[in-house]
Amino acid sequence: MTRKILVLPGDGIGPEITAQASRILAACQARGLDIEIEEGLVGGSAYDEHGEPLPAVTLDKAKAADAILLGAVGGPKWDKLEDLTKRPEKGLLGLRKNLGLFANLRPAITYPQLASASSLKPELVAGLDIMIVRELTGGIYFGQPRGIEARDGQRVGFNTYIYSESEIERIGRVAFELAQKRGKRLCSVDKANVLEVTILWREVMERLAPEYPDVELSHMYVDNAAMQLVRAPKQFDVMVTGNMFGDILSDAAAMLTGSIGMLPSASLNESGQGMYEPCHGSAPDIAGKGIANPLATILSVAMMLRYSLGEPEFASRIETAVGKVLDDGLRTADIASEGTRTVSTSEMGDAVLAAFEAL
Ligand code: NAI
Ligand code: MG
Repeated sequence: MTRKILVLPGDGIGPEITAQASRILAACQARGLDIEIEEGLVGGSAYDEHGEPLPAVTLDKAKAADAILLGAVGGPKWDKLEDLTKRPEKGLLGLRKNLGLFANLRPAITYPQLASASSLKPELVAGLDIMIVRELTGGIYFGQPRGIEARDGQRVGFNTYIYSESEIERIGRVAFELAQKRGKRLCSVDKANVLEVTILWREVMERLAPEYPDVELSHMYVDNAAMQLVRAPKQFDVMVTGNMFGDILSDAAAMLTGSIGMLPSASLNESGQGMYEPCHGSAPDIAGKGIANPLATILSVAMMLRYSLGEPEFASRIETAVGKVLDDGLRTADIASEGTRTVSTSEMGDAVLAAFEAL
């Protein structure tokens, strides 16, 4: 069956990096991967064309797709829009919400060739390979009631931190299953010493554990998890947590690797449909210069092949090609160091493609 892939380049460096990732997709297609590739507009570029960051035509294409590859959205050009619903970032939130993308997978991987780019000592991060699973459609970011109102003569702001058992269970299952396929260790992060909602979280994780007897489940309070991530990050395999804790911990973990331009991500829904995108933003400071690192987006294609299309061989092949290019000393400016060769966005794409073809 032909699978449908929707490519949404977005804004800033988005079109430059997705162009390189699309070449890899096309190479997979040429080697027998049965896919159909379509493009669409999202974010600021969609606003400019349709007056909406997520036009109905894009949403329809997204719903019909088996997987979506997104570049990045946003930029100073749209930051002054007064109607907040028109901001490019709303395009992303709209996709997550409409497609029910509740499971955000954020790997933090340090390539041995890039360990010196980390802010931590190379020996602490060399070979680092963590997967953070963040719940993406619930928790305090969406809980009701919320607002700012006057109470007793002053204004108060409030949000609601809420998770149902079924929401916890479905994200828990994603994490347990990932742990089964990786290092078989799962650390669930909560604040069960203070917050009732995370007492329930911990209970549900414990209840699921016997169904995954090969996975060793542990629990950690979020403050300690933050400390442990910067003290000894290699102790972790898979981590699972709620929306807000996951937002913060995954950004911290990403920076441990020292190269935001290298990190892919996946957001999945219950039917396995997924949106794949680099962790970084639209990098307006370097947009249009042809120097952006396309590897996070290319590695997002590998995640797509693994998690939505069930094509682990193609996925590994892309990852191996990226490793080969790094071994050869090729670097975009953001990851360049002494003794490496600095290349442009498209030269990096050329090199990965050549390495992919040679495998
Ligand atoms: P950013 O990730 O776009 O940039 C941070 C720094 O990293 C910049 O110096 C940039 O040049 C560099 N950088 C990022 N990606 C790179 C790449 N592939 N190659 C080389 N260097 C790279 O984050 P920032 O500056 O906070 O946000 C810029 C815009 O992106 C904003 O409008 C923001 O809202 C949006 N954004 C969009 C996201 C998305 O589409 N998922 C996520 C984060 C931010
Ligand atoms: Mg964040």
